[in-house]
Amino acid sequence: MLRIAVAKGRLLDAFRALLEQTGCDCRAVAEASRKLVIDLEQAGLRFILAKPADVPTYVEYGAADLGVVGKDVLVECDRNVAELLDLKYGLCRLVVAVPQASGISKVQELDFNSRVASKYPRTAEAFFNSRGIQVEIIPLAGSIELGPMVGLSEAIVDITETGRTLAENGLVVIETIMESTARLIANRISLKTQREAIAALVSALERVI
Ligand code: PRP
Repeated sequence: MLRIAVAKGRLLDAFRALLEQTGCDCRAVAEASRKLVIDLEQAGLRFILAKPADVPTYVEYGAADLGVVGKDVLVECDRNVAELLDLKYGLCRLVVAVPQASGISKVQELDFNSRVASKYPRTAEAFFNSRGIQVEIIPLAGSIELGPMVGLSEAIVDITETGRTLAENGLVVIETIMESTARLIANRISLKTQREAIAALVSALERVI
């Protein structure tokens, strides 16, 4: 059985829909509300439901053969896994945003040592380093938009999909760091030991993407 780690939520629903298109009956995944491990006996797949940022960890350590994770998380985690396929859904952007009221329109206008809150501290740090801009990155676990609203930070680096959360909290984008979509990743040893099963799944997914 192939073990696949998938984050609960948006990416799981879309991945399930994609698998259904390949002819795989995924009703058990849709119906399970609290279960964290779900077997699809017929399809030979075991779903492991994890937190997004933990998916590459399960895959690197071989607790899962495969994983489905956003490119944004993959870059941030920097785990030793193989990226097999762009699943072409879950499109979003990792951006730098500031309060509209600040009047700042580009990253070069941020003050020296400005504080930047983010759930993506490594990617944010690398971005500002590449631009030669000195900032202080403040790692947060979620609801990043709060940072500037409560005076914790002058800017944020966060994911935006529809742009609603930014707009409703008075923030505007001043730079796009990267675009992200869901990716299929694999454990490097599983790629050899489970070669045929993984190749069959990849081909089936490629046909419906
Ligand atoms: C993400 C992101 C934004 C929001 C953007 O948050 O961090 O807050 O979605 O989506 P939008 O552009 O469509 O409004 P998530 O739901 O992952 O929760 P979190 O902020 O607690 O991490």
